Amino acid sequence: MAHTASSHPMIARAAGPLSGTARVPGDKSISHRALILGTLAVGETRISGLLEAEDVLNTAEAMRAFGASVVRVGPGGWHIHGVGVGGLAEPESVLDFGNSGTGSRLVMGLMATSPISAVFTGDASLRRRPMSRVLEPLRLFGAEAVAREGGLMPLTLKGAGDAMPVRHHVKVASAQVKSALLLAALNAPGKSTISQSALTRDHTEKMLAAFGAEISVEPLEGGGEAVTVTGEAELKPAQVDVPRDPSSAAFPLVAALLVPGSEVLIPAVLLNPRRIGLLYALREMGANVEVTNRRLSGGEEVGDLTVRASALKGFEVPAEWAPSMIDEYPILSVAAAFASGRTVMRGLEELRVKESDRLAAMAAGLKAIGVRVEELPDGLIIEGTGGEVRGCATVETHMDHRIAMSFLVAGLATREPVTVDDTAMIATSFPEFVHLMQNLGAELVEG
Ligand code: S3P
Repeated sequence: MAHTASSHPMIARAAGPLSGTARVPGDKSISHRALILGTLAVGETRISGLLEAEDVLNTAEAMRAFGASVVRVGPGGWHIHGVGVGGLAEPESVLDFGNSGTGSRLVMGLMATSPISAVFTGDASLRRRPMSRVLEPLRLFGAEAVAREGGLMPLTLKGAGDAMPVRHHVKVASAQVKSALLLAALNAPGKSTISQSALTRDHTEKMLAAFGAEISVEPLEGGGEAVTVTGEAELKPAQVDVPRDPSSAAFPLVAALLVPGSEVLIPAVLLNPRRIGLLYALREMGANVEVTNRRLSGGEEVGDLTVRASALKGFEVPAEWAPSMIDEYPILSVAAAFASGRTVMRGLEELRVKESDRLAAMAAGLKAIGVRVEELPDGLIIEGTGGEVRGCATVETHMDHRIAMSFLVAGLATREPVTVDDTAMIATSFPEFVHLMQNLGAELVEG
């Protein structure tokens, strides 16, 4: 693909083993939620370890537009003076969420039960992603939305002047949708119950409890759970210590597995069981990853990961694991390409509506670097090479940070270098990625 003036291509090539300590940034999901719940609490919420990446900074800006005082006091340290549930001001201009599906959808929920309107937009990737999955159930609370054809941004959401409580089953396996509805429920009278068959990440539920909301979680017969929130809530400010992001840790982790002779320590990573399916999958594939010093930090389990280069074997990833590793399939696909034997991944239709169509992007990228892969409607079948991947290609990243990082990791272990067409989007979730990898010994150079 021709490089445009504004694209930032990068070349990754094999060098010596990776070694050292990889301090990955704060968890993206928890960072968004800390800013949002801080806005809904009256008084000062203090955050440490906030992810200072474009996606989260856009959410911070949106919280200011709704009237909160959001102040950075030092690296990762942020103080928020919230406006209280029911106290949101109407934003005076368009809210631009950049690349972030999470930020935009959670904020739609946040304002859907307040008598204000807001206009939502984002970058070219976000403007292609489906918003009806949130807008439709938000109508049950009394909100109204006008979106582009197909439920796309830019869109206008008019919050309910007289919100109603809701009982709704979320069919799509999305924590974003569940969380948006839970946030909307906070300003509706009475109890709202949001159920879901998939066990998606539960950071909203945990953090709501920490901010003093009345919330309960019941298992559903046949799997899944129902979350009940009492509305017209009064949230108390809290101290939120954001653990390091396992979805970012996944990149140095897989790099250390693939580059012969490597040993890397990744400290204080979030180990919430709904987030670490990748760790289980890699272990099934023969990865040498030791978890030590398990402890609690801010209501979440964290631990230190020691990763040593390992010969991997293919694995059939159970489809039910998908919610616990939904953002990790791109990097898992790279690991699978270097494994011996076949890896099968199914139940992944959601990957088609992420920052890019990740099934198509991974299949194309893997083929380009010399890996045999079959693209299924809901997954990938990857024929592992036993460690011998050619490389020698430029991979298209389609405005997707995780596709960019995945193929840069691949290029550290291929026979010939791998170029990715654009690295600009890495700043949406992991601005220090290139530096951090170079400090471990990775050879990444501007292309
Ligand atoms: C997120 C949920 C996931 C994930 C995203 C972050 C969240 O999306 O892909 O990166 O913070 O709730 P879905 O819930 O839409 O699958």
